[in-house]
Amino acid sequence: MSKKLILENLSKHYGSLVAVDNVSLEIDPGEFLCFLGPSGCGKTTILRMITGFEEITSGNIIYDNAVINDVIPQKREFGIVFQSYALFPNMTVNQNIAFGLKMRKMPQDVIDARVNEILDLIGLRGWENHYPSQLSGGQQQRVALGRAIAIKPSILLLDEPLSALDAKIRVRLRTVIKRLQEELGITMIYVTHDQEEALALADRVVVMRDGQFRQIGTPWEIYKRPKTSFIAGFVGTSNFIQGKKEKGQVRFGSRILTVSGLESVESETVHLAIRPENIDVLFDEHAAEGLVSTNIIETTVEVINFLGAVVRITFMVEGEEMLVDISEKEFEKHNLKRKDNIRLYFPPEAFHVYTEHYRKLI
Ligand SMILES: Nc1ncnc2c1ncn2[C@@H]1O[C@H](COP(=O)(O)OP(=O)(O)OP(=O)(O)O)[C@@H](O)[C@H]1O
Ligand SMILES: [Mg+2]
Repeated sequence: MSKKLILENLSKHYGSLVAVDNVSLEIDPGEFLCFLGPSGCGKTTILRMITGFEEITSGNIIYDNAVINDVIPQKREFGIVFQSYALFPNMTVNQNIAFGLKMRKMPQDVIDARVNEILDLIGLRGWENHYPSQLSGGQQQRVALGRAIAIKPSILLLDEPLSALDAKIRVRLRTVIKRLQEELGITMIYVTHDQEEALALADRVVVMRDGQFRQIGTPWEIYKRPKTSFIAGFVGTSNFIQGKKEKGQVRFGSRILTVSGLESVESETVHLAIRPENIDVLFDEHAAEGLVSTNIIETTVEVINFLGAVVRITFMVEGEEMLVDISEKEFEKHNLKRKDNIRLYFPPEAFHVYTEHYRKLI
């Protein structure tokens, strides 16, 4: 059974470098939590402190109401899965999965039963006598997962476990991991810099930057209400517009835009973010009726990117490149081509308003 894990004012310094900067969080039993952030923001360092492989500079890690700062990793009974599968090459699938159980000197019949169970959970029945070198990357990572959960850890920690795999397998293994978590009911703490992965897997996402927690929320909250412009750009895609407040509206080059929520910002310069799917393409002649006229923009199609269900169109406004997404169905219906004129609508309530602009990092 998982218990509550608490990070309390946790910091890690390497000399003058602050890798983790005074972060606090309560992780509920059975929760699927993702740490999401760009390279170097401190994700692995937090995970290593939770496992006990990294010393804490200050703060506490509390598990089941006890401070475990000084408990050695072997005594924490947390399972770990890394990006590199780190399987034992001279052991079969069965032996790899059984490894932790053997170390704990469990009776052979208990080990056999457990390994059997795991083979089904990770979908590798029939492969038990293969060696790692005979398996694909995705299969090897399943074995690593199986080995980590065999000991029935109270918490499973995963550090970018899918990043070495190709896109299709990555998406498939996501489902395997999510299902495992639901069936085992254990807490999972998952580190990734892939925002799509975090949104797809997590109950709660912690967005990190520079060793700090910048936003904690459900995938929906993070996506729909990004607290900073960095998050608006890092999680999903956003168009950014820099403008100046002018009589309750925003001047953007030669244009004036009507924007909801401007009152919340005091500075004169504002940074607006709007997602490609929240801009409307007005195909119909009458579609503009009743809309806020300042926010209707005529432009031309510059680039068409076919993404499958969605088609992403690049256009220019005031010398800035921007994106709008339309469904493939609509795209086909209107037979859009490069250099076509289009009319777009930026709904006033679709903007997020920020005082600062961070460039997207990766
Ligand atoms: N042993 C170490 N000695 C000195 N600095 C370190 C050490 N380990 C990590 N760092 C530094 O701490 C910061 C955080 O590193 P960490 O590995 O936690 O980042 P990360 O978010 O996991 O990045 P990535 O996505 O690239 O894996 C980085 O600036 C890194 O250079
Ligand atoms: Mg890392």
